[in-house]
Amino acid sequence: MQMQIDILTLFPEMFSSLDHSIVGRARNSGKLTVNFHNFRDFATNKQKHVDDMPYGGGQGMLLMPQPIFDTLASFPHQNARILMMDPAGRQFDQAFAEELSKESQIVFLCGHYEGFDERIKTLVTDEVSLGDYVLTGGETAAAVMIDATVRLIPDVLGKSASHEDDSFSSGLLEYPQYTRPEVFRGLKVPEVLMSGHHENIRKWRLSESLAKTLRLRPDLLAKYELTAEESEILKRLEEESVV
Ligand code: ADE
Repeated sequence: MQMQIDILTLFPEMFSSLDHSIVGRARNSGKLTVNFHNFRDFATNKQKHVDDMPYGGGQGMLLMPQPIFDTLASFPHQNARILMMDPAGRQFDQAFAEELSKESQIVFLCGHYEGFDERIKTLVTDEVSLGDYVLTGGETAAAVMIDATVRLIPDVLGKSASHEDDSFSSGLLEYPQYTRPEVFRGLKVPEVLMSGHHENIRKWRLSESLAKTLRLRPDLLAKYELTAEESEILKRLEEESVV
């Protein structure tokens, strides 16, 4: 599978994280192409301004529609998902990353001012937020979304890596893991993991996943459909935490 990502930004240098590690390797191997489009290049005024004051008054500046429309018209993007980075958008999550990882082309539109002229929204398929906080611009949000998406493209993670047990992909947080040594500064690896007993290990991991999710992210459990086995473990965990 091949993916093309087009990024509309005034600050392409902010995306240097995409040169490294797994995303960098995906680009080098040809599984991923990333193109940058600086929409200041499409400004038609002498000063190369891309923003202006809001009609009706108010603080801050807004991105004008013309440079964005013209930039988007300058490259093919039929059937592409066009994402606008906006703190007021739908919140990005693992399920959305999985959906995006199946696309062949994704366009990220990054603003760096107070906001966008509303008419720019006629160009986009999704308004997306990284979370309930305001960043200085959409670039850092887009870089995070690209990272989370690209690692899910088939064969982008090596054979030894995997995303099936990732936190969130099942709806629960991931269980704790240990590697060598067996004892480090007095801290021991749980006995069951050394037992070689696969069924006991599976049960322990499931129980730890549930306990961790209950402790740190009870909101995830509320949305999660428990199996009979999981319900039983959870009941026990809840009883234990009460006493
Ligand atoms: N731009 C500024 N804040 C943002 C956020 N939280 N998500 C996406 N884009 C943004």
